[in-house]
Amino acid sequence: MTKFSRPTGTLDILPEEQPYWDYIIDYMTKVARGYGFQPISLPIFEDTQLFSRGVGEVTDIVEKEMYSFLDKGDNSITLRPEFTAGIVRAYIENGMQVEPKPVKLYSIGPAFRYERPQAGRFRQFHQFNAELIGSPSPLADLETMLMAWDIYNGLGFKDLAFQLNSTGCPKCRPGYVNVLVEYYREHIDEVCDNCKRRLAQNPLRVLDCKSDQCQPVIAAAPKIQEHLCAECATHFADLRGFLDDLGRPYTINHRLVRGLDYYTKTVFEVWAEGIGAQSAVCGGGRYDGLIELLGGAHTPAVGFATGLERVVMLLKAQEVAVPPIPAPPVFVVFLGKQMRSPAMQLLVQIRAADINGHIAMSGSLKSQLRQADKRGARFALILGEDEALRGEVILRDLKDGAQVSISQAALVDELSRRLS
Ligand code: HAM
Repeated sequence: MTKFSRPTGTLDILPEEQPYWDYIIDYMTKVARGYGFQPISLPIFEDTQLFSRGVGEVTDIVEKEMYSFLDKGDNSITLRPEFTAGIVRAYIENGMQVEPKPVKLYSIGPAFRYERPQAGRFRQFHQFNAELIGSPSPLADLETMLMAWDIYNGLGFKDLAFQLNSTGCPKCRPGYVNVLVEYYREHIDEVCDNCKRRLAQNPLRVLDCKSDQCQPVIAAAPKIQEHLCAECATHFADLRGFLDDLGRPYTINHRLVRGLDYYTKTVFEVWAEGIGAQSAVCGGGRYDGLIELLGGAHTPAVGFATGLERVVMLLKAQEVAVPPIPAPPVFVVFLGKQMRSPAMQLLVQIRAADINGHIAMSGSLKSQLRQADKRGARFALILGEDEALRGEVILRDLKDGAQVSISQAALVDELSRRLS
């Protein structure tokens, strides 16, 4: 028989891992709602062109990493490699531009990229994604960064590094790109083949190159800050001023260009140690041209996404204590087959009073009590024929083994009292 295994680059998130996921998703949801972001859930697949146009034809994601296929109707479909393009599609399609601006939306769910798997890099991963649509103000950039900050702080992380840059806008970026290309032409023999190729196709990405050979060339490359137009320079200065006023540390990183083409002005990432080769837990920035590019009216916007697998890895690396998912406190034990139905009726009765419990499916008294222990129950309810005839049940405290026989009519009150 063929033995199946999970596809390369995917994870089975088993029950013992779930407390981490519950903890981060609950906390991120709480912060997002506290910041006035509303939840939105979209299809996991979209028209392929949405991503090729939105994310950019000459990006790693579109060139190499999309899970694209023809469906039975010959439509080219892609599993979402990120959320932003889909959110923008939904914003335009559902007429959300009439809503009070900025429109603040958050989502949580899986995304798919056919990448080379390694620690912290998966082919199916999960993102918490937030978008703030409809404001050109640097306060909007600040607000998204603060939200990321509050999330990581509140989760208990230390030593995270906020990386910040401006990538300019369609007015000033071409001028900078010319200067950069000119500079690289003078150093073309010193850089790797990948950079030679990138220089022709997507020149800003040369700044992102990790190859040792290219580092001296990158270090001495012209910096985009020196080529920003007045509007972009003011925007960047205002944002930095706000961050300074709040005392939020960040590093200006001239090399931060991000791997998606829609960014304008602000880009940022949050880096952390201890999550393998992939150090970015979060990436985001402003994308003032994307909504127009995808067929909407010109609408400035900014957002970020954080990878949940990397956040979980970081929780473990930084040994953050995560609350366990509480086990149902009550376990119902029945003595003999004829007690199965009465025992189940008892369980239904306490569940109706919002007391959680479960029941053994079979077994001797000893084995059922062992099951109760293993499942972390606080109390066992033991129902034998004698108790049933008297309208009673045995309530056993599993901590100290003390037990009393009490009337079934008083059971809910007694359990509520003991559990409160
Ligand atoms: P991104 O930088 O491509 O940006 O992804 C954001 C985060 O998702 C990364 O920092 C990382 O934590 C996680 N991530 C990305 N790829 C993988 C992977 N293969 N395995 C595990 N985790 C991964 C975006 O996706 C933009 N849409 C963010 C954004 C929203 N910009 C504006 N609004």
